[in-house]
Amino acid sequence: MIDIPEFSILKEGINYKYYINNKWKKSNSGKLISVYNPYNNELIGTVQACTKQEVDEIIKAAHENINCWDNIPLNKRAEILNKAADLMLKWSEPLGFLLMKEIGKPIESAISEIIRTAEIFKATADSSLQISGETILGDAFEGYTREKVSMTYRVPLGVVLCIGPFNYPFNLTGSKIAPALIAGNTVVMKPPTQGPLTALHFGIILEKAGVPPGAFHIITGRGSEIGDYLVSHPLIDMINFTGSSEIGKNLAKVAGMKPLLLELGGKDAAIVLDDADLEITVKSIVSGAFSYSGQRCTAVKRVLPMPGIADKLIEKITEETLKLTIGDPAENKTIGPLISSKQCEYVQGLIDDALNKGATLKCGNKREGNIIWPTILDKVNSDMRIAWEEPFGPVLPFIRINSAEQAIEISNKSEYGLQGMIFTEDIDLAFNIAQELEVGTVQINGKSARGPDHFPFLGTKSSGLGTQGIKYSIEAMSRPKVVVFNLTERGKLVKKCFVSEK
Ligand code: NAP
Ligand code: G3H
Repeated sequence: MIDIPEFSILKEGINYKYYINNKWKKSNSGKLISVYNPYNNELIGTVQACTKQEVDEIIKAAHENINCWDNIPLNKRAEILNKAADLMLKWSEPLGFLLMKEIGKPIESAISEIIRTAEIFKATADSSLQISGETILGDAFEGYTREKVSMTYRVPLGVVLCIGPFNYPFNLTGSKIAPALIAGNTVVMKPPTQGPLTALHFGIILEKAGVPPGAFHIITGRGSEIGDYLVSHPLIDMINFTGSSEIGKNLAKVAGMKPLLLELGGKDAAIVLDDADLEITVKSIVSGAFSYSGQRCTAVKRVLPMPGIADKLIEKITEETLKLTIGDPAENKTIGPLISSKQCEYVQGLIDDALNKGATLKCGNKREGNIIWPTILDKVNSDMRIAWEEPFGPVLPFIRINSAEQAIEISNKSEYGLQGMIFTEDIDLAFNIAQELEVGTVQINGKSARGPDHFPFLGTKSSGLGTQGIKYSIEAMSRPKVVVFNLTERGKLVKKCFVSEK
């Protein structure tokens, strides 16, 4: 691990502090939460279990500084985001290394997560400079004249609470912080308890980039203990959350009338028609299903193949899956540990249920520590839990279908609606199926994915609320402010109109 002198301020030994008004502090609770490497169970660090009183102090500080931060000109806020991005790029290796250790993500993907976040910061800064308001004249409606003029521009919402998940703890908090700050909001961030350490470095990065005291704060602690308190706090003005549908739905209940941007779970289905290009389809499905061991909301979580392609598709996917490397994330193995042994037990339960009900095992179903071997299940049917539940692990079920109509029905029966995929050479048919799928995004001849990050990213049903993506997130974290000028006709120049002169 490369030692970065700038990082020494946020911890004592391996005990990390929380962050308020650009100061690192220990919680009065005296309680620390341990963070272990899911691959080898090594203790990597501890974070503070903050108290409700500390939550109050942080949110109050954020609230009191809304105007100060918003009064900094947009071009200066954009400059700060660009500087923050440069620091992320400079420190991408040590940050990526820490991320790899705390969440078991393969090292190259962990470093990419930091770089991708820097790119989001830069793109957010650029995009914010294009945001403009509008002026509307009143005479479109009967009874109004052009002397009634509205001027509309965007203002911040206030204090934005940013909560991220364990699987992208740096990127999916960063993709919330950047639009919140650029829109003029102050930010309270709560990182996930499994994977908080790298995200805590946002404190150092943003402070060094020029964010003044008061605009950005980090609270740590278990969501089960302080989550509802944070979310329902009267001084929180907007919440951007990524995580499970279960927690997201609870959050929506306790948040009251606060604006919400929620990115939740998924059960993305890949519909494979008889004429699909086998090579593209296999490559997309294998990497879509198994990268970061399937711990992605957008992982391919079901395959629905037509009869003419099913046998060869399943054989080829199994063959490619057997080639995946398994083991230490530090050695960049594709399949690594799941985040916890509890999660492994859940995934194993889904596999056992399917096998007990008659599914065919093509490969996998082996466990060592927190690693589950990539598992392919054929002949899955709708009585099996794996047909509907999100494993968040390396399990890929095949549900054979006989028609496009059946594929649509099975896809739409899911409680989730994040993305869908269609593999075919028949673009007309693909477009028609795409129109029927009740999801945020349909990928044609490609795996489901959030990026590129300027694309709109959203889920329907239990998969989310609102739209994320560079300009969409900035819009979601600001609101229009309308000023109406009621002018008089005093001084109006009188012209002669429609008078024919001979
Ligand atoms: P999770 O258990 O729902 O936790 C997500 C975040 O919510 C964590 O920071 C957690 O804190 C916090 N939290 C827990 N209880 C809370 C409460 N009562 N109020 C407010 N926040 C609370 O999800 P996860 O296990 O980290 O991530 C996996 C899930 O996220 C999967 O379902 C996946 O599909 C989904 N996900 C979706 C997307 C997307 O963009 N659609 C992206 C990534 C992940 P603690 O860690 O302290 O409990
Ligand atoms: O886990 C959910 C993420 O939003 C997925 O992002 O498609 O770039 O892996 P990704």
